[in-house]
Amino acid sequence: MWGTMVPARVLGLLLCVHVCMGSEELRLVDGGGRCAGRVEVKHEGEWGSICSYDMQWSTREASVVCRQLGCGTVAHTSPYAPFGQGKGRIWLHTIFCDGTETTLQDCSHYGWGNHYCGHEWDVGVICTEALELRLVDGRGPCDGRVEMKLRGRWGTVYDGAWGMNHAEVVCQQLGCGSAAHTTFTSHILEAHSTLMLARVNCKGTEKAIWDCNIQSWGPYSVMTDYNASVVCQGFSRLAGGDSECSGRLEVRQGQTWVSVCHGHVDLMAAQVVCRELGCGTALALSGAEPFGVPAGLFWNGAFECNGTEPFLSACTKRPPHIQNCTQPATIICSPYNGFRLADGVSVCDGRVEVEARGVWGTLCATAWDMPDAHVLCDHLGCGSAVSLPPPGHFGMGTGMLRSDALRCSGSERHPGQCPVEVLGQPACPPGHTAAVNCSGVAEPLRLHGGESRCDGRLEVAVRPGVWARVSVGLWDNGTATVVCRQLGCGVPEKIHAAPANGSGPIELQELRCVGTEELLAQCNATRMAAEPSKNPEELAIACSGSKQLRLVGGCGRCAGRVEVYSEGTWGTICQDSWTLQDATVVCRQLGCGRALEAPGSERFGPGTGTLWLGAGGCAGTEDALWHCPAPVQRGCRRGGGAGAVCSGLLDLRLMGGSSRCSGHLEVLHEGTWGRVCANGTSPATATAVCRQLGCGTAGSLTDNPAEGSEPAWLSWVRCEEGARSLWRCPSAPWQLQECGPTGITHITCEEDSRDSSEATSPAPALTHSAVPLTAAPRSVSALTVLCVLLGTLLCVALAALAVQAHRTRAHCQGPSKGATSEAVYEELDYSLMPEYQEVPSHTGSLSQGSGRKLSNHSGDGAEESDLQVSADPRAQPQHSPSHGYDDVMAVPEVSPSPQPGDAPAQPPEDMGYDDVGVCTLGTSL
Ligand SMILES: *[C@@H]1O[C@H](CO)[C@@H](O)[C@H](O)[C@H]1NC(C)=O
Ligand SMILES: *[C@@H]1O[C@H](CO)[C@@H](O)[C@H](O)[C@H]1NC(C)=O
Ligand SMILES: *[C@@H]1O[C@H](CO)[C@@H](O)[C@H](O)[C@H]1NC(C)=O
Ligand SMILES: *[C@@H]1O[C@H](CO)[C@@H](O)[C@H](O)[C@H]1NC(C)=O
Ligand SMILES: *[C@@H]1O[C@H](CO)[C@@H](O)[C@H](O)[C@H]1NC(C)=O
Ligand SMILES: *[C@@H]1O[C@H](CO)[C@@H](O)[C@H](O)[C@H]1NC(C)=O
Ligand SMILES: *[C@@H]1O[C@H](CO)[C@@H](O)[C@H](O)[C@H]1NC(C)=O
Repeated sequence: MWGTMVPARVLGLLLCVHVCMGSEELRLVDGGGRCAGRVEVKHEGEWGSICSYDMQWSTREASVVCRQLGCGTVAHTSPYAPFGQGKGRIWLHTIFCDGTETTLQDCSHYGWGNHYCGHEWDVGVICTEALELRLVDGRGPCDGRVEMKLRGRWGTVYDGAWGMNHAEVVCQQLGCGSAAHTTFTSHILEAHSTLMLARVNCKGTEKAIWDCNIQSWGPYSVMTDYNASVVCQGFSRLAGGDSECSGRLEVRQGQTWVSVCHGHVDLMAAQVVCRELGCGTALALSGAEPFGVPAGLFWNGAFECNGTEPFLSACTKRPPHIQNCTQPATIICSPYNGFRLADGVSVCDGRVEVEARGVWGTLCATAWDMPDAHVLCDHLGCGSAVSLPPPGHFGMGTGMLRSDALRCSGSERHPGQCPVEVLGQPACPPGHTAAVNCSGVAEPLRLHGGESRCDGRLEVAVRPGVWARVSVGLWDNGTATVVCRQLGCGVPEKIHAAPANGSGPIELQELRCVGTEELLAQCNATRMAAEPSKNPEELAIACSGSKQLRLVGGCGRCAGRVEVYSEGTWGTICQDSWTLQDATVVCRQLGCGRALEAPGSERFGPGTGTLWLGAGGCAGTEDALWHCPAPVQRGCRRGGGAGAVCSGLLDLRLMGGSSRCSGHLEVLHEGTWGRVCANGTSPATATAVCRQLGCGTAGSLTDNPAEGSEPAWLSWVRCEEGARSLWRCPSAPWQLQECGPTGITHITCEEDSRDSSEATSPAPALTHSAVPLTAAPRSVSALTVLCVLLGTLLCVALAALAVQAHRTRAHCQGPSKGATSEAVYEELDYSLMPEYQEVPSHTGSLSQGSGRKLSNHSGDGAEESDLQVSADPRAQPQHSPSHGYDDVMAVPEVSPSPQPGDAPAQPPEDMGYDDVGVCTLGTSL
């Protein structure tokens, strides 16, 4: 009976049987497990049941049973022999507990064997440990039909008014964030199926579905297939990046998204997040803020994952161990799940193919170049790129042809770190497939643990796949020269001793190079002790090719404070003599188009890094910021914080609708807003836009009333099913155009449409999501009052102001205050539009954090105690007299009595539909 799982409490009780007189054993029988069933107690060596009249048996008594058995809290209890009638003795007629006792023996009773009720009143209890909830037949653990496990079996759930309140409880209970969508269907079956819960009335705030007001507990055998289908929003997301695969980590807390503190997630957790989001491997985790400033709130805890969890909410949650959190964790995942070369002569040449969301496709050759090829060859263990055979050299392949333009700078460690442009890229001519011929020999040396493949600790391959560390010695200058040259990383800029990294490969080498050797293999090497007693310092090198550039603190990678990675650290730029020409070089180098502005620190903050003095004096034609003359500066009066806003900055919005979640689609490109033609727009585009705007997880293309004649930027936007970011959808090239008779793209997101659709449904309490997302209703009603008071004239002026205020959303740092910059973001005026200019190609670099990288992962020191939240014990199930196991249809209607503390559903304070990955640098009041 008592298995190995018996908790300590129960063992304690067993011991107690021998020690204290009158203490008894307790069990639950016929409930399909040890945590549900008819309550039986053992007295004088004999098991017997407890019977009780309705009024005398309550959750208080049942909760003591569950506590004593270590089965959690009470989910349901009933005195109507819900688990059948006992056969033996009735030992007790009810018991009297105040609910806080740890064992039943602490409660009082009428005396052993004294009872006035029969076996038809045998009490039964279901504790929460006996129950399980899941979603099945969906696309993942957070999507599908609701099923509940009771008495060891899985079955369905039914409620006549199933709606978003129910779905909300289910999603939150499963750790899947908030509910996005739910449907309820039923149809008659030929065979029997099992129904576990019927008439479930949820407020939406319950911690578990069994905390809702449930009138009928199963299992029932029914001839109906009930399908309560739920789609949850998911628990985590990456916000503020170019795609769903990079950005600030945010998790769902109730109805809002909150950031997670840097230091409260590790790389294992990053891997889990990347997998949960359908992205490739985790490339970097940092506390820098390249993706804009967080809204403010932080998740109160840490995550500890072992890497196998299907989603972040399945990881162990730990109490927070950083008190004053200021930095949100940012994660960069590869947007591709895999890379390969196909149809080559060897494994190291061929047609370039990438995998995204499980589908392999061939890269277009149009933007493919040597820096891209170097990074790919290195990643595939094929050395460096030797040549780019002509497009189509290795055939067309059968997969789709992707027009993705990789913008690698050549120093990236992983091709997933290269910026990618998809939206608005030129169409790829058929058969124009990218090809590469790699050297085929992996370099027998690498720089490990830096920001790029051109900086870090030196390691050499002593055998294939076995890496030895290199100790600091007298000949480092020569060694570094050979290393940087052999890696194609230029010349050494900084050579330093790094503290030994004990967890690395074991062998330690000493290298002696003069500096003129062509290959490191020609230098003299001495092998040192496998495990030296005192770890000497290791040789770390930063080659000139490790320099990187990024824009931080704005939104996306094309606006922000300029930061340069040089000699192993990120630094900011002095704003004293920073000009538009300087910013022009930055924008071009990042593949972000032309410079619109060169703001100072008032816009994107001063930054924290040291000043990098190598910038300035650009003519605007240089291809890298470090090729500018950089006149000698005598100090820096105003400090760091020089910024750039580039024309490649992308943004999107819905205009002209009833709220920001419906209207016609506009995209910001080249500093101007333009529309999107309806011709060729795929239905999944609506979903991607709604997700990106934080307007729910579904949306539809709607009929487009012909209005205005402003030109459009795009047409043929063809997002695939499941896309979460418009920026990763292919389309016709950027070009100002008239849309013609099919008109422009209008989108209505689900968050909006739910208002009307659910208002007509019989759902008792409307959900949070039904409330409009904007402040508009409130300001309108206030306005109405004011209008009556102040008269029409003033009212007109006020209304205009309100519209302005409503449109202004400054999600990112520092909306521009200057009149000149405002003009840049003015509404599109056809006559003033610049000609479309192609973005100069690829000298992009990744905006990646300066924090920990995959390579030097170390565990974090989270405390061991678990953050367990026990279920709410306030559940007060209904004591319906018809608790038999007959078909649910036969259960007479019982009007639900309100639970204690039952209150009308309140509108939530904070909708939490803040934007994701959207930045509005637009008009400010
Ligand atoms: C349940 O309903 C959902 C949504 O309507 C549907 O996708 C799914 O296939 C249904 N499942 C079953 C088992 O009927
Ligand atoms: C990882 O954690 C999960 C949940 O805690 C556990 O079920 C699984 O066995 C663990 N896997 C490994 C490899 O430790
Ligand atoms: C946290 O903030 C408080 C008040 O701002 C300060 O007194 C304290 O020193 C800070 N603690 C740490 C660890 O930074
Ligand atoms: C790849 O490069 C090697 C060495 O330069 C050359 O022998 C080979 O023919 C090249 N292959 C292709 C397909 O260009
Ligand atoms: C390091 O080597 C380079 C090239 O071999 C040489 O120009 C430079 O002077 C050397 N520096 C030192 C400090 O030895
Ligand atoms: C390497 O070893 C050879 C032979 O022992 C010696 O002639 C040469 O000077 C050594 N080179 C260095 C840089 O120590
Ligand atoms: C839609 O696009 C196709 C292909 O570009 C073009 O042939 C057609 O004329 C367009 N239709 C309209 C109504 O603009």
